[in-house]
Amino acid sequence: MPEAPIDWSAFNRAARSRPSRELLRRTLGCMAIEGRPPGVAVDLGCGAGADSLELLRRGWLVHAVDASSDSLDLLKAAAEPESSGRLHAHLQAYESFDVPACDLIWAGYSLPFCHPQAWPVFWQRAVQALRPGGRIAGDLFGTRHAFGSEGDVLLFTEAEARALLAGLEVEAFDIEDGHRPSGGQITRWHAFGFAARKPAAGVAWQTP
Ligand SMILES: C[S@@+](CC[C@H](N)C(=O)[O-])C[C@H]1O[C@@H](n2cnc3c(N)ncnc32)[C@H](O)[C@@H]1O
Repeated sequence: MPEAPIDWSAFNRAARSRPSRELLRRTLGCMAIEGRPPGVAVDLGCGAGADSLELLRRGWLVHAVDASSDSLDLLKAAAEPESSGRLHAHLQAYESFDVPACDLIWAGYSLPFCHPQAWPVFWQRAVQALRPGGRIAGDLFGTRHAFGSEGDVLLFTEAEARALLAGLEVEAFDIEDGHRPSGGQITRWHAFGFAARKPAAGVAWQTP
């Protein structure tokens, strides 16, 4: 994991009471309409876990992965006792996480912080772990994002981001190209919120 000059512990503490992401709820809505029951989800860089908690509330078994122990502690403290048996918290860099066979991989604002050298193999491993009909969703940062000046943050052009999803059925590709409040400052924001479905069994997913 890069030595990002970001205090994730403080960031996640400030974000812990936020609602779950609309992109996640939209993705879960597609799965529900398909009649796919809650299964196994992986939340990469889960932070304080607002989205893991949403998945737990909906009956998913959640592998929540984050390199920040304070953030995982906040998630574990917030999980309802009835669902805590379905929460598996993993304190580690997600690049080294052995992604299990799963129905959903959610990565809210965390993929840009993957170690750049680990990225191509990690992305391939993640998509391979998805079961047919499973979804991968989250955020990639674009080349005009303010965090591009922070060192090892991964940035993609729109074409590169779309190419990553080649071979998957893209259900969302939300482009944000503007400014938003982040970390107490108005921040240049350029990001691609994506959700993509792995084709059903029998259709091979090709590495881009
Ligand atoms: C911007 S925060 C997003 C947190 C949460 N997903 C959310 O949307 O509120 C990024 C999170 O990714 C975690 N993170 C960054 N790089 C990571 C890595 N390589 N492995 C595991 N966790 C990482 C940080 O600790 C932090 O909790």
